[in-house]
Amino acid sequence: MNYDVVIIGAGAAGLMCAAQAGYRGRQVAVIDMGKKAGRKILISGGGRCNFTNENASPKNYLCRNPHFVKSCLSRYTQHDFIELVDRHGLAYHHKTLGQLFCDNSAQDIVDILLTECEWAGVALHLRHEVLNVERNEQGYTVTTNQGQLHCQSLVIASGGLTMPKLGATPIGYKIAEQFGLQVHPTTAALVPLTLHDHDKQRFEGLSGVSIDSLVSSEDGTQFRENILFTHRGLSGPAILQISSFWQAGQAVTINLLPDQDVTELLTGWREQSPQKSLKTVLATLLPKRFIEILTEEGALPDKPLNQLNHSEIKAIAQTLTQWQIKPNGTEGYRTAEVTLGGVDVDELSSKTFEAKKTPGLYFIGEVTDVTGWLGGYNFQYAWSSGWCCGQYC
Ligand code: FDA
Repeated sequence: MNYDVVIIGAGAAGLMCAAQAGYRGRQVAVIDMGKKAGRKILISGGGRCNFTNENASPKNYLCRNPHFVKSCLSRYTQHDFIELVDRHGLAYHHKTLGQLFCDNSAQDIVDILLTECEWAGVALHLRHEVLNVERNEQGYTVTTNQGQLHCQSLVIASGGLTMPKLGATPIGYKIAEQFGLQVHPTTAALVPLTLHDHDKQRFEGLSGVSIDSLVSSEDGTQFRENILFTHRGLSGPAILQISSFWQAGQAVTINLLPDQDVTELLTGWREQSPQKSLKTVLATLLPKRFIEILTEEGALPDKPLNQLNHSEIKAIAQTLTQWQIKPNGTEGYRTAEVTLGGVDVDELSSKTFEAKKTPGLYFIGEVTDVTGWLGGYNFQYAWSSGWCCGQYC
């Protein structure tokens, strides 16, 4: 079968790109090994898809070249995607920190993309696993488990390595390497952190407990959201965010009382209620079991407030605002939301997403070395890169 454009991957980036190229009059085919299109969209945001973020800007992305995303994010913005979903009558709501979610189901987003693809005359080939690609004089030949497709332009939108159960494969990285493009090492990101056995034992009674915290990585990056104790370690939005900045062997620092001046608070309490024990008053601010654990371990003194001197109060404040924990790893691709690393963006045009060395070959979405924060930013990059590429491929 001959097409002008073949897109590998019927995910967020691939479907957006396909519709745009189709509207330009290109004969477009999208191939995906899954039996449904947009499988990651369907499971995203707890089934409600956090499809964009009202505040998306280049500072919300990790990329070895931080300027790369500026162009696509400004040419197809979150407001453009919101305009698209409004036009299709999507019911959605604002949750927190600019995050937009479907009211009903993530299926609504997939339906919008599939409708756009249908209007643009895009052919969708599901259950086609891409095995390899070759370049020839006419363009590219894509070999799948169901036969071959030929095209002038080949767009790689095959995503990252997260959720292997949903059909994540390294095909995009392999194609990049095949054509001599640099691929940066990949790791799981937006992922829960795991703890050493001794820490797991310390906090096992806290599984399910969450605390509004300010979490910092050793490079000084900070996120203010909840942390969540799990039976494997730490999760929750603040931990997922910091996981993209955390490196093996490093500690994370957690301010468990980010809105309080703890020294001032304890000094005031000591005057007002001198007989009360430290653990009783702290249990009004933080989960009781957590305070008990720190007290049993001696990290907090087991004393009434009137027995605390100023330097002890300062030490308590430090324990609670600079609580450090050293994870032993992450839960990996099995539970991660995204893949850090990927195709070096300096190999690509930031305008067209075409590989500079290989005319007719394009890379968009998560397969590239662009990783968004948690909060709808990853889909926004998929829409923006897909839309921009769709104007040129
Ligand atoms: P995506 O992974 O969506 O698509 C790639 C496609 O390529 C897949 O359909 C795959 O089957 C196909 N493919 C791969 N190899 C192939 C081969 N060899 N042959 C044929 N097809 C092949 N982001 C966000 O902004 N808001 C959110 O709410 C969430 N929530 C979320 C939850 C969970 C559980 C996960 C795992 C991820 C998220 N994300 C998210 C991240 C978001 O899902 C992700 O960034 C985008 O789906 C990336 O879109 P792409 O189109 O680049 O790849």
